[in-house]
Amino acid sequence: MKLLVTGGAGFMGSYFVKYVLHERTDWEIFTYDKLTYAGDTSKLADIMESDRHTFIEGDIVDGPHVEEVIAYYSVDAIVNFAAETHVDNSIEKADPFIRTNITGTHTLLEVARKYGIRMLQISTDEVYGSIEEGRAAETHCFEPNSPYSASKASADLLCRAYYQTYGVDVVGTHACNVIGPYQYSEKFLPTIVTNLLQDKQVPLYGDGMNAREWMYVEDHARAILLLLEQAASGERYNIGSGAEISNREMITKVLEIMGKDTSYITYVEDRKGHDRRYALDTRNIRALGWEPQYSLEETLRYVVRWYTENQSWWQETKSTQTNDNA
Ligand SMILES: NC(=O)c1ccc[n+]([C@@H]2O[C@H](COP(=O)([O-])OP(=O)(O)OC[C@H]3O[C@@H](n4cnc5c(N)ncnc54)[C@H](O)[C@@H]3O)[C@@H](O)[C@H]2O)c1
Repeated sequence: MKLLVTGGAGFMGSYFVKYVLHERTDWEIFTYDKLTYAGDTSKLADIMESDRHTFIEGDIVDGPHVEEVIAYYSVDAIVNFAAETHVDNSIEKADPFIRTNITGTHTLLEVARKYGIRMLQISTDEVYGSIEEGRAAETHCFEPNSPYSASKASADLLCRAYYQTYGVDVVGTHACNVIGPYQYSEKFLPTIVTNLLQDKQVPLYGDGMNAREWMYVEDHARAILLLLEQAASGERYNIGSGAEISNREMITKVLEIMGKDTSYITYVEDRKGHDRRYALDTRNIRALGWEPQYSLEETLRYVVRWYTENQSWWQETKSTQTNDNA
């Protein structure tokens, strides 16, 4: 198998690349990434010299370049992690989200169509909008409330259309919030941990009762490998942990782990269009034999330890924003 992983220098993509190289010892991986502010090859340092891994700098919107790579390396499948991912940035300026998340996905679909190869599109639970009660199954309608989630939903609809119209072998996923090492400091958990490591206040949107599910990045990587190999063409799969807590509870747990009290929390004005709750029905992927292996407690302890021991990685680019888009 020769696999192209777009966005493979980002948080979840880089973990997936390393995971697959370890789990499938006869596979070759081509990491394709634009290296935006969120991408860097230090995450791939362990495998940059591997003869089963090649890094290519490029933009998924650049159709001719993507096609050249697919043809030159005889790629068998694409997994698309590449995206603009920070909700607050999309509220400030949506243009790059429309470009990369929608036009970029369209470019990859066109190439997958031309070369007759499988494409797996990584998407989010945020496309379903706020789920006040119960859990969203894959059949739930799309009701995105931020420019970020609208751009992801648009890409998901293009995937559906390319399957229905052209028979492109495309599979879609909707994951809950993912956490782990090498997540950019703008995101919710890294903001909490890195602010506390710098003895700073932790901002919390609104009343802090917005609830999300949280999953360790390896559980996500295992789900994507399973779906790449076993999912039915044209299907979409939810990937959720069931570990649902409010943002306030999340901060409180991290404060406890780091031996600090709740005086470090600063309540700030709520985000525009802030979804109250995300919750996924995961029966379809569980029927294929997947289930999360890491508890939220052990994941949080590990992530705190990782950011404590890897301060040089996040200190240079540390953002002052917060967000609960994972
Ligand atoms: N982090 C989460 O909790 C979460 C949850 C569900 C779904 N997702 C989805 O998973 C995917 C990966 O998320 P992440 O948190 O790892 O993101 P990230 O921001 O850490 O990484 C995104 C990567 O994409 C690259 N990229 C951006 N624009 C590009 C372009 N035009 N061409 C090529 N590469 C480009 C960046 O350089 C970066 O390496 C995204 O599609 C996101 O929507 C994330």
